[in-house]
Amino acid sequence: MTRHVRTAIFPVAGLGTRFLPATKATPKELLPVLDTPLIQYAVDEAREAGIERLVFVSHPSKSAIERHVMEDMRLTKELRARGKADVADALSEAALSPVEDDARFVMQTEPKGLGHAVLCAKDHVLDGPVAVILPDDLILGQVACLTEMVEAYADGSVGHLVATMEVPEDKVHRYGILSVTGKAGSIVMADGMVEKPKAKDAPSRQAVVGRYILDPSIFSALETQPPGAGGEIQLTDAIARGAADLGLGGFQFSGTRFDCGSKAGMFEATLELASRDPECLAVLKAHGLVRPGPAVAA
Ligand code: G1P
Repeated sequence: MTRHVRTAIFPVAGLGTRFLPATKATPKELLPVLDTPLIQYAVDEAREAGIERLVFVSHPSKSAIERHVMEDMRLTKELRARGKADVADALSEAALSPVEDDARFVMQTEPKGLGHAVLCAKDHVLDGPVAVILPDDLILGQVACLTEMVEAYADGSVGHLVATMEVPEDKVHRYGILSVTGKAGSIVMADGMVEKPKAKDAPSRQAVVGRYILDPSIFSALETQPPGAGGEIQLTDAIARGAADLGLGGFQFSGTRFDCGSKAGMFEATLELASRDPECLAVLKAHGLVRPGPAVAA
């Protein structure tokens, strides 16, 4: 069985109610952190990890996502004609080419949950394990989270590998939580997973964030998965069912995760990226928003 991850699934059909009114006409995945939409960070991460096929599980009302991620020849031609070749080059480098890249768009017309969204991609994936990226979870670090996970997955033996981080007890109800059995390097071993438990029922504080590498049997598990938390078909439940046979690991990534599905998380991510941009850094400094760094010898 190959451990080579060739496909990434992007579940992007959600209504984005937490970000209304910003998301009334604009898909939440197109909200920018500074000047780059969330979906772009997710696509860049997948490409960096060597993903060959990108499957977007979208909604008919969110066609702007496809317009953003795919190359727009008319726009780049127009930019070049106006002497803005550098902007055109940057845009076409970031975009997926209909000829050279392998992108697919599948519609999830009913809000039946994350598990159902992943199942919608079933007929469009290449063989082997599949990655799932939730663009709401922006992870910034020296090495991209999916790249680290692909490497750990290839070397390891678990069938399902999910990105995890420790969260405080009063936050466990927001996440899928692992039932931890041990630790092997940067992988937390688990024999199950619970979706959004109450603090008192949570098996640990190891929370799943939006990066998964899943054994292809996830699709047959999802086909028979009854609705769970919130009446939705939960990816967490289908992963948990396979844990005993396939092995389940929580990968402790090296980067920092920002919950860009929330205003505070989005703001924090914006501050982080602003501090890396000279022009924005000057604004942060002017507002006293930069923590004093360690003294630098002259
Ligand atoms: C989803 C998953 C949950 C996971 C979370 C990470 O929940 O169902 O298990 O911990 O993403 O962001 P959502 O935030 O979409 O409700």
